[in-house]
Amino acid sequence: MRDLDVLVLGGGAAGLMCAIEAAKRGRKVLVIDHARNPAEKIRISGGGRCNFTNIHCSPANFLSRNPRFCVSALKRYTQQDFLKLVEKHRISWHEKTLGQLFCDNSAKDIIRMLLSELEAAGGTLQLETDIKAIEKPDDRFSVSTSKGPLRAASLVVATGGPSIPKMGATGFGYDLAKRFGHNVIAPRAALVPLTFSDTNKELCGRLAGVSVDAIVSFQKTSFREGLLFTHRGLSGPSVLQISSYWQEGKPISVNLSPEADVFETLRQARQENPKQDLKTALGGLLPNRLADELSQAFALKGRLADQSDKVLRRAAEQLNRWQLTPVGTEGYRTAEVTLGGVDTKELSSKTMESTKVPGLYFIGEVVDVTGHLGGFNFQWAWASGHAAGQVA
Ligand code: FDA
Repeated sequence: MRDLDVLVLGGGAAGLMCAIEAAKRGRKVLVIDHARNPAEKIRISGGGRCNFTNIHCSPANFLSRNPRFCVSALKRYTQQDFLKLVEKHRISWHEKTLGQLFCDNSAKDIIRMLLSELEAAGGTLQLETDIKAIEKPDDRFSVSTSKGPLRAASLVVATGGPSIPKMGATGFGYDLAKRFGHNVIAPRAALVPLTFSDTNKELCGRLAGVSVDAIVSFQKTSFREGLLFTHRGLSGPSVLQISSYWQEGKPISVNLSPEADVFETLRQARQENPKQDLKTALGGLLPNRLADELSQAFALKGRLADQSDKVLRRAAEQLNRWQLTPVGTEGYRTAEVTLGGVDTKELSSKTMESTKVPGLYFIGEVVDVTGHLGGFNFQWAWASGHAAGQVA
């Protein structure tokens, strides 16, 4: 039986950060993970370069049943704090776009940094360890694992969400939370491509690989970033962002030409170049393949001179406010994160400790706090891990 001060379940972004902070305080800390390697999601993140934070990070970049829950932790461990750590380890980085900070070389630099901080602080990581049972018979937790029994005063749940199951992601944290009497907000795949059926699916399929700058909206929320057509629907940053807000059965709106008022542009083109084909004129606003397919799909044909204002308005409506209803998402198989999770109502926003079970903490993605695309989810993992690490 190993006796610990702090046992962290899950050696991902949040778990490692928490373990480092707790070990720095002199606590006897062990992190266990069932995977062969730690922090696999860091390794594959940001196309292998890890978008480790965002310089514009603020609570407005997060979704949660309680949008104020993340405020305290984000304030006490900021994007600048993480950047200082990155610079201390001489990891070179760059801003890609919209405040998103990436490693110049490899996401593995971030994993090495966390492991070396953990070692320096005196914490231990034990991989390939399956968790068999967890009890709290007295004031300590008893955890039986495939590598023997453990006891700990504090138990930190950092097992993430179920997105990308083939990388070892599980809903373990939700089951554990429920067993200890916590409410779990129904989880759902987020930052995920949207899928369509029938004609829209066929249209997307024909356009697979085409990308455009677009504004994608759901109700009052909009994102302007790239949009990518796929064989089954739509992807790209603007679509991934809106997937976190989209509600089943309802349409999204896509502006495929955010820079131009399509009606005004076509009207002017009709005046200056009446013999031009409507399709060719649309080609001035959109990639040619897209202009071709949309002209067919929306029956936009003929010379500009022959088009009434009504037709031009219809074309503009289709391009600036294309309404289409997804049938679903690509699901956990490809989702970057999971919406929902352990209800923040029963957690302290300062420490992430359960208000129901003393000594039990939930951090990172397992909690009902989900960031936008762009480095925000890692910033939540660092900040919530840091918050728990100060007290666990
Ligand atoms: P995380 O999932 O990182 O760690 C959980 C750990 O618990 C894992 O090591 C897992 O093996 C372990 N575990 C799970 N169940 C267990 C069990 N039953 N027993 C033992 N161990 C168990 N975010 C961002 O900000 N910038 C980015 O660039 C990206 N890019 C990105 C790409 C892709 C493809 C994905 C899937 C996700 C991203 N993300 C991202 C999101 C980001 O990876 C995610 O939000 C964090 O990794 C969450 O950190 P956690 O530590 O909470 O969970």
